[in-house]
Amino acid sequence: FLGRNVVRLQALLGDPGARLFGLDPTRDPYPEFERLRRRGVLVRSRLGLYLTTSHELCSSLLRDPRFGTLPASALSVVDPVVRVDGRKLVNPVDESFLVLNPPDHTRLRRLVAPWFTPRGLRAQADTVERVVERYLDEAAGRPSFDLVRDFAARVPIQVIADLLGVPGADHASFARWGRALVNALDGVRDMGEVRALRTSLREFEAFLDDLIEHRRRVPGEGDVVSALVAQEDLSREDLIATTELLLVAGFETTVNLIGNAVLAVLGDPEVRAGLLDDPACAEAVVEETLRHDPPVQYTVRVPFETTEVAGTRLPKGTPVMMVIAAANRDPAVFADPHRFLPGRPDGREHLAFSSGIHYCLGAGLARMEAAAALRGLFGRFPDLRAAGRVTRRPSRVIRGAARFPVTTGETK
Ligand code: HEM
Repeated sequence: FLGRNVVRLQALLGDPGARLFGLDPTRDPYPEFERLRRRGVLVRSRLGLYLTTSHELCSSLLRDPRFGTLPASALSVVDPVVRVDGRKLVNPVDESFLVLNPPDHTRLRRLVAPWFTPRGLRAQADTVERVVERYLDEAAGRPSFDLVRDFAARVPIQVIADLLGVPGADHASFARWGRALVNALDGVRDMGEVRALRTSLREFEAFLDDLIEHRRRVPGEGDVVSALVAQEDLSREDLIATTELLLVAGFETTVNLIGNAVLAVLGDPEVRAGLLDDPACAEAVVEETLRHDPPVQYTVRVPFETTEVAGTRLPKGTPVMMVIAAANRDPAVFADPHRFLPGRPDGREHLAFSSGIHYCLGAGLARMEAAAALRGLFGRFPDLRAAGRVTRRPSRVIRGAARFPVTTGETK
């Protein structure tokens, strides 16, 4: 855990990258992003990377074919490689098309793209509504519940499980695996976290092996995994990595979008009144949440060759960290950027789903789920209130609530 001490020391010396990585991940990161913005468009960190908060630069780099991706674990900079008993712990998401470059990226993305086209999404609209209703029914009748654990996490887990063809999805295990994998993007703090990561990786892989085996014997109708196992030229590694990517990307992000949107609504009486008055506002609230408080806060690209960017020579392989959450509040693009204003005319310019060839495949599904969740939640519980302290997840890459107690205001 040497990396963590180097980061601490550099943060004390004022290094901008170390200040970001050294931030308490449960604290509000936006003031630090503004300090970074004041330092320039492309800022060098002694940790061996560059950072940008500029919307213009982020969107051009994300679409620049001279730049490629890095394994997600490299995002952490802090202790990115975890070794246990001399062996490297490999997260299959780190081998998925999220972090592959063309032509492998193109080949694998194309295989699963049909489920996410407008037509594919229309086919899932009823499932989404049904799943939302089911968990609202479960929450109803209880005067209080945890918005994340009992609702925001359940909806996307069930939707993606249905899409992939997972029979009887075990929410608690999914949530545990997803949390361990995603929290590890920030680097692993102690042996307890290493153990949790190792256990989750093992359990997840065993579960995926069983699922694949099951779908080979009993193909489902129209689900992703049944279609993938029917592809004879797909290796086991690609099959596992693609399925795991869809599962983890499918719920670990959307849960936070729903949670962050509800937080915004509960914190702003005007937005709340607007949503209660016209449930169709849910789409605009979701879009503004994506801009104002995006679940994925940053991503990284590296140049394939030495390249000049914004007047700076970047040697081949130098990571550039694009702070999406800061680009989404760039005053050059967004008027009054820190205000939460659903329906703002510049709102769709945000980079919450990235841009270019890695543009989030599930963007349409995430928008649909989050809007249905908000409409359903405030339709059913118009008096919904926070009922205690909201705790943030201990992650800088992913922003969302860990605990979010609410009361429905219903009396029985
Ligand atoms: C990629 C965000 C929901 C599947 C990405 C990327 C971002 C992102 C930022 C690109 C990362 C990069 O460029 O380095 C989000 C957010 C979501 C969400 C904020 C919810 C609020 C979903 C859902 C699914 C999904 C529901 C699928 C069911 C994917 C996949 C990729 C991806 C497969 C990889 C695309 C590629 O590399 O070509 N997502 N995502 N995401 N997302 Fe999402």
